[in-house]
Amino acid sequence: MDRIISSDRPGRPSGHNSTQEPHPILFDCADAASVVAAALGGLSAVIVVADSTVVRLFPGFGDVLRSGLDMPVLVSEFEPGERAKTMDTVVGCCRAMAAGRFDRQCAVVGFGGGVATDLAGMISALWMRGVKLIQVPTSLLAMADAAIGGKAAVNIPEGRNLVGAVKMPDLAVIAPSFLATLPLPERISGLVEIVKTGFVGDPDLVSEFDSMPAEVDIDWLAGVARRAATTKMDIVSVDPGDSGIRLLLNFGHTVGHAIESVSRYSIGHGIAVAAGMVAESAIGRSMGLVDEIEHRRLVEILNRVGVPPRPAVQPADLLQWMLRDKKNREGGIRIALPANDHRIPSMKSFTTVAVSERQFLECWDD
Ligand SMILES: NC(=O)c1ccc[n+]([C@@H]2O[C@H](COP(=O)([O-])OP(=O)(O)OC[C@H]3O[C@@H](n4cnc5c(N)ncnc54)[C@H](O)[C@@H]3O)[C@@H](O)[C@H]2O)c1
Repeated sequence: MDRIISSDRPGRPSGHNSTQEPHPILFDCADAASVVAAALGGLSAVIVVADSTVVRLFPGFGDVLRSGLDMPVLVSEFEPGERAKTMDTVVGCCRAMAAGRFDRQCAVVGFGGGVATDLAGMISALWMRGVKLIQVPTSLLAMADAAIGGKAAVNIPEGRNLVGAVKMPDLAVIAPSFLATLPLPERISGLVEIVKTGFVGDPDLVSEFDSMPAEVDIDWLAGVARRAATTKMDIVSVDPGDSGIRLLLNFGHTVGHAIESVSRYSIGHGIAVAAGMVAESAIGRSMGLVDEIEHRRLVEILNRVGVPPRPAVQPADLLQWMLRDKKNREGGIRIALPANDHRIPSMKSFTTVAVSERQFLECWDD
């Protein structure tokens, strides 16, 4: 069943969402390409940003847009993986748009995992200072998290996601059938971000994982992804600018991003974030901010989800990257910790927590 939540003037033929208001999400969509084609009517051109795996797996998506739209449809492919999330890829797409004489009435469609949706967000924010953006996530992680809420970023050699923008999509289209081809490690990665959102602000979502079936099907995955996306949107609507409680969604990411960087992206985002959540929760426990019971519950759920053992990385190497994290203040490392009851805290009560290098090293070895 198709359903749109949190509508921000959907269906406008031109213009783009330049506000920081919540954006519409179409859940349980059976035919993403037709929905996107309908939403793009009246525009001048569209660029679909997708990695080569997604283009190969779902050629029909571009075909439906080409046959359904009376405008140039450019499918811009990049190499799959985090290494492609760079300004070079963004500029490459912009140059293709320039060659195709794209104007301000064009649209960008992010089609794929979180790398594609982040790249599409950046391109739509930058091309002629902002054009329409539609996100069509195909990975579980992107359906539950990356395609939602309007944050976009690219990596530079100095660090993960250091260059970015907030650009709300005009629409996010969630079609669970894309998940049928998702490899198991990518499924686990997506589940990790969903668990994170549960721990940050949705006790019922955490409970879903307490009773997670041994064999999960697409319906179950789509259900928890939908809950996580809705919870994330609730958080984003309170703090679209990412200066307060939205920072909580970074739980696990200070350490997680460092793990990804140290491994030169050979360790996937979700796996790194899982290890990061366990490390950051242990730090919170050592400070008396996280209950022992909740810490153990987190570890058990991540095991149930199928997260592999903690990656073999040197904590001293991680610190070098953690010192460059975006949340740091006055040169000191800060982490986001969820409340013990997993309810979204009020803006007033929220704060990130300063962590010393010694505290991190002690908890990593704990
Ligand atoms: N902007 C945000 O708010 C936000 C939030 C969370 C994560 N992110 C970003 O998202 C990225 C991680 O996302 P990801 O894990 O989706 O990575 P990804 O885009 O690299 O996708 C992972 C892999 O899955 C493949 N894939 C995608 N859909 C598939 C499908 N249906 N079937 C088969 N294979 C498929 C891709 O080709 C890729 O190889 C990171 O860059 C992270 O920083 C952004």
